[in-house]
Amino acid sequence: MKDLAESTAEQIATMIGLSTNIDLVANAARNITERAKKDAAAADTLAVTLAGELESIVRCYKFGDDDSQDLDESDLEAVLQSVPPLFVWENDLSVGITRVDDQHKVLIAIINRLNAAMKKRMSKAVIGKIIDSLLEYTKTHFGMEEELFKRYRYQEPEYSKHLKAHAGFIKTIDEIKQQYAQGDTTVNLSVLSLLRRWLIEHIKGTDKKYVPFLLQNGVK
Ligand SMILES: [Fe+2]
Repeated sequence: MKDLAESTAEQIATMIGLSTNIDLVANAARNITERAKKDAAAADTLAVTLAGELESIVRCYKFGDDDSQDLDESDLEAVLQSVPPLFVWENDLSVGITRVDDQHKVLIAIINRLNAAMKKRMSKAVIGKIIDSLLEYTKTHFGMEEELFKRYRYQEPEYSKHLKAHAGFIKTIDEIKQQYAQGDTTVNLSVLSLLRRWLIEHIKGTDKKYVPFLLQNGVK
């Protein structure tokens, strides 16, 4: 008896002619559902739907390059031009505070770099560096938000909930880093999609809650 992840993956893979990748897609789907169940960032990731995740993963394979390559850092800009972005900034992601929007755009750009580098199978060193930059920039961005919460005394329980969501996401990226270092690329493709969904849900849900509070305090 096939499980839900496997049969859904099979349907989608058949639809777009990826019959040889069914196992890979199903594994990725299983990874996502397991993660969504146990991840500390679950408050936000619960909103993640399997269908949405699969669509993104399948898109990776559809546009992906199956030939193993060993492109290095000097090829990165050309690679970025050749791969459609996984994640496009749209106005409904704006929280109406410029400094926050600008940082969210940088996070999106890093996720797109990671997506492009993985799809083109760039060298482990290049991908490792992009994951490091994602981790560092996420910390910078969350640090900026948390500093504003402290300065203007963001109310409970939103303050604690928001911090918890941030900590969960940092942990997720840290896990991606470890898993990639251990060579688990299937996990990374599924997690890449999870990163995208998490950020969308976080911006539209958790982040938008603090907007009236920060605007009242004159933050722009
Ligand atoms: Fe946030």
